[in-house]
Amino acid sequence: TNNPKSIIVIFGATGDLANRKLFPSIYRLYRNNKITDDFAVVGVARRPLTNDDFRNNVKKSIEAFQSDDIDHDDFASHFYYNPFDATDLDHYKRLNEFLLQLDDQYNTEGNRIFYLAMAPNFFGTIAANLKSEGLTQTKGWSRLVIEKPFGHNFESAQELNNQIRQAFNEDQIYRIDHYLGKEMVQNIEVIRFANAMFEPLWNNQYISNIQITSSEVLGVEDRGRYYESSGALRDMVQNHMLQMLALLAMEPPIKLTPNEIRSEKVKALRAIRPISVDDVDKYFVRGQYDRGILNGEEVNAYRESSSVDSNSNTETFVAGKILIDNFRWAGVPFYIRTGKRMEKKSTEIVVQFKDLPMNLYYDKTENVHPNLLVIHIQPHEGISLQLNAKKGDQGTVSKPIDLSFNNNSKDKMNTPEAYEVLLYDCMRGDSTNFTHWDEVALSWKFVDVISQNWENKSADDYPNYESGSNGPKKSDALLEQDGFHWWTVT
Ligand code: BG6
Repeated sequence: TNNPKSIIVIFGATGDLANRKLFPSIYRLYRNNKITDDFAVVGVARRPLTNDDFRNNVKKSIEAFQSDDIDHDDFASHFYYNPFDATDLDHYKRLNEFLLQLDDQYNTEGNRIFYLAMAPNFFGTIAANLKSEGLTQTKGWSRLVIEKPFGHNFESAQELNNQIRQAFNEDQIYRIDHYLGKEMVQNIEVIRFANAMFEPLWNNQYISNIQITSSEVLGVEDRGRYYESSGALRDMVQNHMLQMLALLAMEPPIKLTPNEIRSEKVKALRAIRPISVDDVDKYFVRGQYDRGILNGEEVNAYRESSSVDSNSNTETFVAGKILIDNFRWAGVPFYIRTGKRMEKKSTEIVVQFKDLPMNLYYDKTENVHPNLLVIHIQPHEGISLQLNAKKGDQGTVSKPIDLSFNNNSKDKMNTPEAYEVLLYDCMRGDSTNFTHWDEVALSWKFVDVISQNWENKSADDYPNYESGSNGPKKSDALLEQDGFHWWTVT
């Protein structure tokens, strides 16, 4: 069979990501026969756990799958734990010997994934030590999977990149942006490039603006320490939002190879009009959540969260207008919006088409309804198209109607998890849905200007939106000045 075989070494194996996402994803790959019994997972972290402790964590993380007829103990027996000090070379030597032994036991042919799922301080050190102690020189392949944050700005990202590049080639590095593993984010390209109805209209002659919204209900919870140094701009815009924008804006690739797709994405990112530090306020709006009522309960303001400064200048909301200076997009604003503690958890893309040159049909209030293409990324997965049609017997009145395809209705359990897709891609050596260094660099350069402005002058209106709302008023004003408004369609 073609099932990939490998050992997955997880650094930070006691952490939240490993427990919430990685173990269940490996389980799903196993259950769905994407991987066979030829795999092993070695968890490393500082804490002194035993194999049994670790396997209990694994079993706990897959409790939701009780009804499968897979023996969870059998599955968990593929997991091993090594207490590990990332700065101690002896630990790497011992780990290497252990991996060689597992290779024999599980037929993994020297294939290794090193998955860095931990705080980024040690990313560079670990990569360097893996190489110097010989862990990357096996008879199979070895790949590095690296989680965000990939740096804090362009400079630190470049420094980190230089460090890991000393130990791994670019084509061995898989930088995770988990949005690229989402089913409907992957569908952006298919919808665009497999439909004769859309591609001819996908330009500034027919599209008036594109809106990308990713809103969350949760607040910062217990991630105050990380979030204070990040904010929504670094946490969501630099990566997820700009990646979705690149997929919407890119030219059709010549072929569906990782290199061709990436090169088109990079071109789209290069075409983004740079903003100068002084102009940031014209294009970007920041917000921070206040107290409010969510699901009938009173919730705290951001500044009242643990590990958050009571005068914090950190943004929990960003809205922005991005212009792309190329032939396809000149004149079409891309609006992005993301925030915590908003009204609902939802990620969606709205493509608003231009009005017809003349309208014969109006609704009762003389409104013209533009055509909208909506790509629902989560929690609903699907696409819908808002068209106009006659309803009833009022001949000259048109009403918006909705054509929709709902991906969830079939079998929700079978929609793969983002991490499941990405892990499988990595095992097969397909880097299409990972971010190349060039994309990371361009994204940082764009957002660095915005953070410079925001860090230089503190926001005088924080907190400026209530928990449970749709963000600060300024975010609506950003579109109103162009004659548009945010569509809420879910
Ligand atoms: C992560 C951010 O990258 O994405 C989190 O660090 C955010 O702050 C999360 O909550 C949102 O992801 P999703 O898949 O729930 O939309």
